[in-house]
Amino acid sequence: MKNLRVKMELVDGVLLPDTTVEMWDQFWNFQAREDDILIATYPKAGTTWTQEIVDLILIQGDVEKSMRAPCFLKVPFLDLNAKPLPSGVEAANAMPSPRLLKTHMPIKLLPPSFLEKNPKVIYVARNAKDCMVSYYYFQKMNKGLPDPGTWNEYFSTKKTEKVPWGSWFDHVIGWWNAKDKHRILYVFFEDMVEEPKREIKKILQFLEKDVSEEVFEKILHHTSFEIMKDNPMTNYSVLPPEVMDQSVSKFMRKGKVGDWKNHFSVSQNILFNEEYKKKMEESGLTFRDEL
Ligand code: A3P
Repeated sequence: MKNLRVKMELVDGVLLPDTTVEMWDQFWNFQAREDDILIATYPKAGTTWTQEIVDLILIQGDVEKSMRAPCFLKVPFLDLNAKPLPSGVEAANAMPSPRLLKTHMPIKLLPPSFLEKNPKVIYVARNAKDCMVSYYYFQKMNKGLPDPGTWNEYFSTKKTEKVPWGSWFDHVIGWWNAKDKHRILYVFFEDMVEEPKREIKKILQFLEKDVSEEVFEKILHHTSFEIMKDNPMTNYSVLPPEVMDQSVSKFMRKGKVGDWKNHFSVSQNILFNEEYKKKMEESGLTFRDEL
């Protein structure tokens, strides 16, 4: 079987798939529109969940319509260049407005037209430890990403810092610092798990959209973990195992806060906390890693 695992290259200190770097001019010159909605996340922070929520809001809870295509075709992933599919930029260019788009880029690598046109951005952030565990399993099952090895190797060789889309710290802090200068709604995965109703209401308000109580309940139901895990349009099961091997780990894996406790050893946790404190103490940004 062809080895799909792509190589990584550095762009301004951020590791990216070499296929993304190959189309860098196309990516960097992407023309955002004022009425775009961009979902920006560090990988594994709840991107797919938020995509489904926003898509259902835009189509007034029409569940049948939400099943028109898998999530990765409905919402172009701008950073992606996976031939023979059109690149994320090409897919977005071919889409009528208003467009719902996805990126994993840290804000310093966002195409400049986004900051000029200032479309609405929903940034979803998830605590570092759960993100790391979720990314570990994702790297194992997604054959397009580097093989993470065992959990202990992943942790001890600092492979967790050498992951595609770069440092979690730079990502969450960079977007946090930009949030009051642009139209950015900064949402936490943990808040979504704790009280999805409240967070969906925040998203509705930010998007200046209104839905009836009945539609709201439908959106809530169809974006629950239980429904999304069995929905072929959201659980990536339409991709062959050569691309995502769900026998290794499901895409919709656990959807919980605090699963890191099942993976971090006591000493790994101490090491991680020391590093975390140094990097986060001046950020003004706090996360919950348990509920
Ligand atoms: P886990 O691996 O911890 O289960 P992304 O879409 O950014 O790749 O994020 C994937 C993570 O979000 C996975 O985390 C997945 O289970 C979780 N997720 C997706 N939809 C969810 C939902 N409706 N409720 C809770 N978690 C969800």
